[in-house]
Amino acid sequence: MSLENKIKSEIKNNGFVTLDRFIEICLYDVESGYYIRNNPIGKRGDYITSPEISQLFGELLGLYIIDYWNNYIRSEFALIELGPGKGTLMKDLLRISKEFKEFYKLINLKLVEKNKKLELIQKKLLKVKSKDVNNIEWLEDIKNINNDNFIIIANEFFDCFPVKQFTKINGQYYEKIVKYNEYEEKFFFDKIIIKDNIKNIVADIFKIRKFHEGDILEISFEKDNYLKTIGNKLKCGNGLLIIIDYGDYFSKGKSTIQSFYSHKLTNFLDNPGTQDLTHKIDFSSIKKIFTDMSLKVYGPFTQKNFLESIGIEERKNQILQNSSSDLKKDLIDGYNKIINKDEMGEIFKVLIVSTKKINLYEK
Ligand SMILES: C[S@@+](CC[C@H](N)C(=O)[O-])C[C@H]1O[C@@H](n2cnc3c(N)ncnc32)[C@H](O)[C@@H]1O
Repeated sequence: MSLENKIKSEIKNNGFVTLDRFIEICLYDVESGYYIRNNPIGKRGDYITSPEISQLFGELLGLYIIDYWNNYIRSEFALIELGPGKGTLMKDLLRISKEFKEFYKLINLKLVEKNKKLELIQKKLLKVKSKDVNNIEWLEDIKNINNDNFIIIANEFFDCFPVKQFTKINGQYYEKIVKYNEYEEKFFFDKIIIKDNIKNIVADIFKIRKFHEGDILEISFEKDNYLKTIGNKLKCGNGLLIIIDYGDYFSKGKSTIQSFYSHKLTNFLDNPGTQDLTHKIDFSSIKKIFTDMSLKVYGPFTQKNFLESIGIEERKNQILQNSSSDLKKDLIDGYNKIINKDEMGEIFKVLIVSTKKINLYEK
């Protein structure tokens, strides 16, 4: 059955699907979900990410985690990447870290990936490039990883999680749902009144955030649970989590869901399973999860500020000294794209979560 028919049949049985269920089917359906079937990343895909734009991105993250490891771990550890895409970030990170032999030989590399097509691309790239890394393992979920020490990197991972939307109209709380119009042959948004237990959660958050009538609250329970699983692992062991994603310091009470096909914004409900469905991260809610767990949380910093603070300009200048003019142009273009305020430098943010206090940020 096609993905569209699967959604229609669920709507026929239940009268509707909730927004997060619609996203879940479109992205993760076991047969035809977008993140199960496609290779969406790159010029020929639907979007491009920072590590695909510049080698500096993975290299700088490498240098940052080596420094963390030197100060706070210094023993065997799991280096985990959530949603490694084409494997480029990890390739660049491993290349630079090879020079730090003690660090390199204690890596247990774990790649958490749901997309089998991307997993194959990662295997091809990383098995060749990292022959002498202790062991490499691919997993579908972080909950299956049990090490004492962790360094976890998630670039553009959490914006993939299915999200719910709630609003308040005339004192009544509603959830966004999707229905199908048989006559016009298209999906459309609608809303239903929400029930008691979830209504209390939503009403509390509306109050805490000082949201008004008509504002939109986005919540991904699945994402929150995933973050709590990571938080528990950090608490029981020792380590670092770096989250990089596009989003806001605080939710502005507006809808942030978007869909992309071939680098263009599209209609969210069209062509299920063939386009990327995403939302902007509300960093304040992620921060709260980890501070509530008594972990050390730093940031969010803009991608520009974070990369500059850890030496991206110096690294760029170092590479430029030994590059041909073509390479120089690519390097400078890539650097500008990931750093510039009106490109990826400001909308992308970096959040650091650590078991131990990081001296650099404790002033
Ligand atoms: C937006 S891409 C980012 C890729 C890569 N981090 C980069 O920066 O190029 C999201 C990645 O996460 C994977 N992914 C999405 N949801 C996932 C999930 N729930 N569990 C594991 N992998 C997931 C996708 O297949 C893809 O590799």
